[in-house]
Amino acid sequence: MPILEGQRPKGRRESYVLPKVPVPPLKETLDKYLTSIKHLVEEEQYQKTKAIVEKFGEPGGTGDLLQKKLLERSEKTYNWVYDYWLEDMYLNQRLALPVNSNPAMVFPKQNFRDRKDSLRYVTRALPVDFARGQLAGTPLCMKQYYRLFNTYRRPGLKQDTLIIHQPGSLEQGHIIVACQNQFFVLDLVLKGKKLKEMDILTQLEKIVKMAENKEERQPPIGLLTSDGRTEWAQARDVLIKDSVNSESLAVIEACLCVVCLDGPSGMECGDTSRALLMLHGGGYEKMGANRWYDKPMQFVVGEDGVCGTVCEHSPFEGIVLVACTEYLMKFMTGSPSKMGRAISVSELPAPRRLLWKMSPKIEGLLKASAERLQRLVRDLDMDVHKFEAYGKEFIKKQKMSPDAYIQIALQLAFYRCNGRLVSTYESASIRRFHEGRVDNIRSATPEALAFVKAMTDEEASLSDSEKMKRLCDAINVQTNYTIAAITGLGIDNHLLGLREISRELSMEMPEIFTDKTYVASNQFILSTSQVPTTVEMFCCYGPVVPNGYGCCYNPQSEHLLFSVTSFHGSTETSSAVFIRALDEGLLEMRELCKKANKKQHFTEFRIIIKL
Ligand code: COA
Repeated sequence: MPILEGQRPKGRRESYVLPKVPVPPLKETLDKYLTSIKHLVEEEQYQKTKAIVEKFGEPGGTGDLLQKKLLERSEKTYNWVYDYWLEDMYLNQRLALPVNSNPAMVFPKQNFRDRKDSLRYVTRALPVDFARGQLAGTPLCMKQYYRLFNTYRRPGLKQDTLIIHQPGSLEQGHIIVACQNQFFVLDLVLKGKKLKEMDILTQLEKIVKMAENKEERQPPIGLLTSDGRTEWAQARDVLIKDSVNSESLAVIEACLCVVCLDGPSGMECGDTSRALLMLHGGGYEKMGANRWYDKPMQFVVGEDGVCGTVCEHSPFEGIVLVACTEYLMKFMTGSPSKMGRAISVSELPAPRRLLWKMSPKIEGLLKASAERLQRLVRDLDMDVHKFEAYGKEFIKKQKMSPDAYIQIALQLAFYRCNGRLVSTYESASIRRFHEGRVDNIRSATPEALAFVKAMTDEEASLSDSEKMKRLCDAINVQTNYTIAAITGLGIDNHLLGLREISRELSMEMPEIFTDKTYVASNQFILSTSQVPTTVEMFCCYGPVVPNGYGCCYNPQSEHLLFSVTSFHGSTETSSAVFIRALDEGLLEMRELCKKANKKQHFTEFRIIIKL
């Protein structure tokens, strides 16, 4: 029996060594909140918000009551924010998973000699012995690793459900192989024996052959999973009325992962095109139907060498995904191929094709899903850019945090493009706490605004040393915010907790959460995340609001990789324009640092001469 997230057994103790996420002091959060929005809203609006926040924070007021309840919740649970956060961030969201929610890892283009070569690549990538212990041994919470292969996000009319299969229930594990929009069941264990690479290769070859058989071809049901969550839930309700469909769905829900064998994309295979193919499959006409977006781990292996992973994000963060993917990549390239057999070819039964019972109603739903996916595909504006002038080593030499520096560069780019700063999200891992996921670093700080103005509007009137001072201030504040967030003192989770506990108490929603400022400050026009890798690959994801940017960056020693996304439908954004502004700003920031260094050396030299 799978267990549902939110119904975890309360008595079980895991990861005892890790502390619980703290509940920050109320006053601190409210003060930080006001500081974080003051320079982003009109003065009149700010004064309104300030009054609302002060009323909320009055001694003995609503804030105190909710804080008390939150502290009680923290006593009673392993992680007071986990379920609130999961529902708010993922399960309650109604937008389609591709682009809007699922991130992707893009591997370097592989040069396969032929189809068999690409299948061999799959056999080396499968988690045949996915020993959980392999990735253990870190002081950070490892819980997310245990959700890589045993979870499934089932759509719901109002809220999705994250299903977690209990350990042991997947021992007879199977994977789903998608090929030509068909789904096949590949059992990894037969007669108590785990299939070896050679066995799996044989099975994959059979699947490729079976998929070519036009007479047995099934409708591209995977398209439904690319739709809005409510639409997919409605379609699923129709689908499961037939037992053939409900059985096929149950098999998919219980699989370890999906392997998508893509045909040639017909696109040139640059970074941006490969990233697009991972994020949305290129729509119905390309690989968009050769996916099952609810499944957290989908490995894509394209015949033309376009490979990567597409992930349903709710069970784990990008960092965990990277660790798992890097492990697999290193395994594939680093260990000798063991193409032995466990089972003789004649004993290997043919993989099973999943069947779907169609009706005119389901056909209509499929068509509608295909059209909506096509719209999403047309709308996504993506640009993957390698900034090669310098990387994190240069920044470290300036005695600055590379992450904070890049965040400031993103603020500068946004200001250059739009003449203002906006509410910004940077994910900060809180895995040092039990069941910790992420909180937010609000990077659009007042100090960042002062710096970007110094580099633009006030460029001509300020000295280099003043600009440098503002850069250092902005970086210091950003670094301090980062430290606060990763030690559980961010404000977004806390505010979310206060809001949700008031809902649980069936109170009238406190004004602080209905206030225009709060609503706007949760619209993350700039949604950013550092996802570093140690092997050649990169992560990408879409914007979280229609007029926003998604910006995932991967700092390397000598270069910085950015994947920027936005929507063509917005007149306020353009990924190419943003990238150009980012490039320009990063070069200017280096010049500024170099000038400051020269001046410092000159001053030090004069002191030495004097001495
Ligand atoms: N002078 C010199 N070096 C410095 C420095 C300074 N003032 N400040 C930091 N550095 C060094 C660090 O020691 C580190 O060195 P290393 O590369 O040898 O390890 C390096 O610079 C990077 O540090 P920094 O840039 O400060 O960032 P970070 O690695 O601590 O990352 C976060 C900051 C917020 C990105 C990180 O804490 C985090 O939370 N990551 C997870 C994000 C996430 O979850 N993403 C996925 C979401 S799906």
